[in-house]
Amino acid sequence: MSVIGCGYLGAVHAASLAQIGHRVTGLDVDADRIGALAAGRAPFHEPGFSEVLARGVEEGQLSFTVDPGDLAGCDVHFLALGTPQREDGLGADLRYIDAALDALEPHLRSRAGRPTLVVGKSTVPVGTARRIAQRLAPLPGVHLVWNPEFLREGFAVADTLRPDRLVYGVADPNGADAAVAVALLDAVHRPLLEAGVPRLVVNYESAELVKVSANSFLATKISFINAIAELCDITGADVSDVAEAIGMDDRIGPKFLRAGIGFGGGCLPKDLRGLISRAGELGAVDSFAFLREIDAINTGRREYALRLARRALDGRLEGRRVAVLGAAFKPDTDDVRDSPALDIALRLHGEGADVRLADPAALPGVRRRYPSLPTADTAEDALRGAELVLLLTEWPEYRALDPVRARVLVSRPVIIDGRGVLDLGSWRDAGWEALGLGRR
Ligand code: UDX
Repeated sequence: MSVIGCGYLGAVHAASLAQIGHRVTGLDVDADRIGALAAGRAPFHEPGFSEVLARGVEEGQLSFTVDPGDLAGCDVHFLALGTPQREDGLGADLRYIDAALDALEPHLRSRAGRPTLVVGKSTVPVGTARRIAQRLAPLPGVHLVWNPEFLREGFAVADTLRPDRLVYGVADPNGADAAVAVALLDAVHRPLLEAGVPRLVVNYESAELVKVSANSFLATKISFINAIAELCDITGADVSDVAEAIGMDDRIGPKFLRAGIGFGGGCLPKDLRGLISRAGELGAVDSFAFLREIDAINTGRREYALRLARRALDGRLEGRRVAVLGAAFKPDTDDVRDSPALDIALRLHGEGADVRLADPAALPGVRRRYPSLPTADTAEDALRGAELVLLLTEWPEYRALDPVRARVLVSRPVIIDGRGVLDLGSWRDAGWEALGLGRR
């Protein structure tokens, strides 16, 4: 089988498929990335990925190529291409999917009717899968299933091998064609199904909506608690107490209620905006206006943190030494796409602060893209001489910082916990002015 598109999603998917016994070829247009993957080297930071990649390549189950011609013998093709936000609006840019289909089509044609499965993993606007199915319809033996991926960065391998659920989108769940397509995809997923992973067969539109709904719902939970955090700051309540108590209601649940500088990454912001855009195109403008507020609350958190930082420095940022701990959009990844942490660091730098940005994994990428932003190899280096510390990505090593030892390094002991993870009391006991977002 093939996996077309070897980014965070596709590369992990390819290695995970090899891990469960399939022979997999990964295709990408980026020759450097393919070179690294083919040599068994992970081109990004993802726990557990290096091991499954190296094992797959070593055992000969997993190969990588830039040549679509190498996919000719595959029975199953996974589409794992990026669908970033369009430059001219909120909607998703489908050009990589269209280009992949253009490259794939001659090979699908040459199958001469042998059963061939095309599986869409990418997040796409509702209506896309049916359009692609219509395009593939003249090709005998070719079936399309839309099978959205729910993996979280930082847990990508585990989420791929043990997902909460498998969702198969087909043209008509009761149709004869669906039975063939479902059987083919079940064969791919056999070890997962045998381990009890639930599998739902729905129509294309439902499968597409499941993905964007899940991510938009998670985004809504985060912005909701962040709005409450603002009220906590005004009233003296503590948002972590409120979140803990409401999370004990099992209709609400405790997850995704951590207040702070908000969500980022390659999925939540883009999928939220993609849903707003698509709903608008389909005429459901008013019902989705609230998602614009969810987005606005989220981006407003960055400005809120910046206001706290300015206030902590008495309104004067020019030349002031600020340690920023964290650049990645969350821990256990080097991904800085739409990262609140990096955005805040860049804005402080833009306002004249003497920023020192640390991150255990993301700095190589940051240095390439923003060469003028000063970085520090370790948290200690960042802290040395700082007049203000901002904890913006909750890497375990930052959560575990010892306030007593950190106190010795800085020139002014003031810290803002942008992720609600520090025990502010113990920092205050060590002589720090410790501020949280929505926390006492
Ligand atoms: C998300 C979905 O969780 C996943 O199912 C989907 O397949 C892809 O998008 P991911 O982008 O890896 O995964 O990150 P996620 O763990 O969802 O976190 C998203 C952002 O929300 C991060 O910036 C994180 O810091 C933030 N977040 C999360 C909060 O601010 N508060 C929380 O309580 C939880």
